[in-house]
Amino acid sequence: MLVDAILIFFLVFALLLLITAVVNMISGAPSVPSNRRTIARMLKEAKLKKGQTIYDLGCGDGRLLIRAEKEFGTIGIGYENAPITIMLGLINKLIHRSKIQFRFSNFFKANLSDAQTIFLYLGPEAQQKLSPKIKKECKKGTTIICNTFHLPGFKETKKIPKDKKARTNTIYIYKI
Ligand SMILES: C[S@@+](CC[C@H](N)C(=O)[O-])C[C@H]1O[C@@H](n2cnc3c(N)ncnc32)[C@H](O)[C@@H]1O
Repeated sequence: MLVDAILIFFLVFALLLLITAVVNMISGAPSVPSNRRTIARMLKEAKLKKGQTIYDLGCGDGRLLIRAEKEFGTIGIGYENAPITIMLGLINKLIHRSKIQFRFSNFFKANLSDAQTIFLYLGPEAQQKLSPKIKKECKKGTTIICNTFHLPGFKETKKIPKDKKARTNTIYIYKI
């Protein structure tokens, strides 16, 4: 009986891992999270204010949104479509007693009209596809901050080059 239960648990886990890998492959976004130092730099550059609504499209385990909430008092909304990743995110949220909202959904279905700042760490293909949606839905004044990949169709207001010593990736900042 116990052996059956353990077997079922591992089968379900393996299936979720497989779904996560397939989802990542199809979406054209890497599944690696932003490193701590790049997150710190992105949050600093975002000039966040208490109570601001921020989005992380493809939020992974929510680490960026949780850190922004703890350090700047922002309201974080994260879209994530990989099942295992969002499960890790919910555990992360619990551990940090965070109020960020996880939306287990494709970010192409998100309504971005209330976003004041949007963080992106996706592949070039996904950012290319997202660009017209951002153009259409985001209000004037919205800040977009991208880790590593630029946002096609927009001219950055600032580009921070990769810094090997500081271990930060290239960061692109856009103001709508
Ligand atoms: C490179 S990770 C970035 C995670 C997080 N934003 C960070 O900076 O640490 C990209 C994430 O986007 C998610 N993702 C890719 N396409 C997506 C889509 N269409 N809708 C929701 N999530 C998506 C992936 O599952 C992955 O967790």
